[in-house]
Amino acid sequence: MKLDSAIISHKPVYHGGIYSISDPRPDLLDFSSNINPLGPSPKVIQAIKKNLNTLPVYPDPDSSDLRKALQKYTKIPLSQIVVGNGATEIIYNFCKAFLSSKNKVLIPVPTFGEYEAAVKLSGAKVNFFKTFDLEKDIDDFISKLPQNGCTFICNPNNPTGSLISKNDLNKIILHAKKNNSLVFVDECFIELVPQQDETILNLVKKYDNLIVLRSFTKSFGLAGIRIGYAIGSKKLISILNKIKIPWNVSGLAQLAAKESILTPNYLTNSRKIILKELTYLKSNISKLEKFDCFDSVTNFILVKSKINSTILQKKLLQKKILVRDCSNIRGLNHNFIRIAVKTRAENQKLLRALKKI
Ligand SMILES: Cc1ncc(COP(=O)(O)O)c(C=O)c1O
Repeated sequence: MKLDSAIISHKPVYHGGIYSISDPRPDLLDFSSNINPLGPSPKVIQAIKKNLNTLPVYPDPDSSDLRKALQKYTKIPLSQIVVGNGATEIIYNFCKAFLSSKNKVLIPVPTFGEYEAAVKLSGAKVNFFKTFDLEKDIDDFISKLPQNGCTFICNPNNPTGSLISKNDLNKIILHAKKNNSLVFVDECFIELVPQQDETILNLVKKYDNLIVLRSFTKSFGLAGIRIGYAIGSKKLISILNKIKIPWNVSGLAQLAAKESILTPNYLTNSRKIILKELTYLKSNISKLEKFDCFDSVTNFILVKSKINSTILQKKLLQKKILVRDCSNIRGLNHNFIRIAVKTRAENQKLLRALKKI
């Protein structure tokens, strides 16, 4: 069997979460995955329990009910929405459909690792742009946008927590259009930003070279059920809807996602807690001599540590706390950990543990 070189060299991405360590334990306090501190809406849990009898039934392959609900939620037509088995499925399908060895891709780093992995599998060539705040480096970044290629932007960015404005994104998309290039904007955390609204969902009506990614994992606490979606031009989305595997999203996942967006005030309440706890964590961690916090707009914080991140992770694990060791994120090293913003009692436990280190 002769395998393609992109398959041979493919490296699965390392992530946080309790299964990222050799001894996963359910009693761990998991600060390594950035999930909404409220967890799933009780309406979702009720709906799942009520619908367990659907387990023997194939799900709707087009996620029609959910896409109709998303049409109302996003105010974007149904024909411009694709639903995926987590946002990650859409990243891979996008790269498979639109990129090949003929294309160049630009990725600001540090960022979410799956863009690089999926782009490399497609055979496209990747260039990286190192930045801790894309907005500050916007002109330089725009000057590096590829011709006939694609750019990935995570907004707000995981793991730095920095946000780029609609205005700057508009500049990037316009410039990319002139370069005959696509722009992939990952908004998986944008619904959890308390103080600014920089979503560019509406720009899909103006630009046909734009695709915007969303997920139920973070915003609605549904990491375990695997569901996300993307919004883009009719043409891009029809291709993604055509190539996805049949029945890519389970019936219970479609139901859970629909109930999530129908739960009144869920995101508003989540953002209130995040704002309060983000401020609490940041101000208290910054008082500690060994740690410095990056300015995050959302439900996680990148922390610069004077203690080696792998050693720090191990020490905290002895106290049943799991943080994200960022040493394997491109653009970072052993000086960085990332922590999720959780509830007050949980955040206090983390603070007590960090103080003793
Ligand atoms: C920025 C970003 N995009 C996408 C994903 C993947 O989301 P999903 O769980 O929906 O596949 C993650 C998960 O960590 C992420 O951080």
